[in-house]
Amino acid sequence: MFTREVKGKVDSIISKYGKDQSVIISILQEVQKEYRYLPQDVLEYISQVMDISSAKIYGIATFYEYFSLEPKGKYIIKICDGTACHVRKSIPILEALKKELSLTEGKTTTDDLLFTVETVSCLGACGLAPVLTINEKVYGSMTPESTLEVLNELRGECKSEN
Ligand code: FES
Repeated sequence: MFTREVKGKVDSIISKYGKDQSVIISILQEVQKEYRYLPQDVLEYISQVMDISSAKIYGIATFYEYFSLEPKGKYIIKICDGTACHVRKSIPILEALKKELSLTEGKTTTDDLLFTVETVSCLGACGLAPVLTINEKVYGSMTPESTLEVLNELRGECKSEN
């Protein structure tokens, strides 16, 4: 929802970079960092304020893999399914996570917006296969069991934060 608070946040991001169209990617990056995705009403507001067509903004938002138009979880789990990880059984890890989090091919984020699960082609750490990352942290030599343990630790951390 485009609340006054959201508007204030977006205004401060725009005033940091200015309204020149050349800075649109930096602005979208900050919005994505703030909300973990690009909310539609925010994109429309930016389009008006910066006088850039929404078609152009959506074009940028869909071109770069970094941007998402869908809400993502607090923890983004990327499971490598490159050759080295696939051979060392990355798929059973993915299946265990999907089952535990009730996710499917078309539903990659949990309803409580805690976890998003994605696959990637190679995380560049093949020696540690199978590998996954959770936000910026790399986890190597994982199994379905050790992955679910990490998941439970993260759930515990969230509970203690609340
Ligand atoms: S194949 Fe998984 S890290 Fe390279």
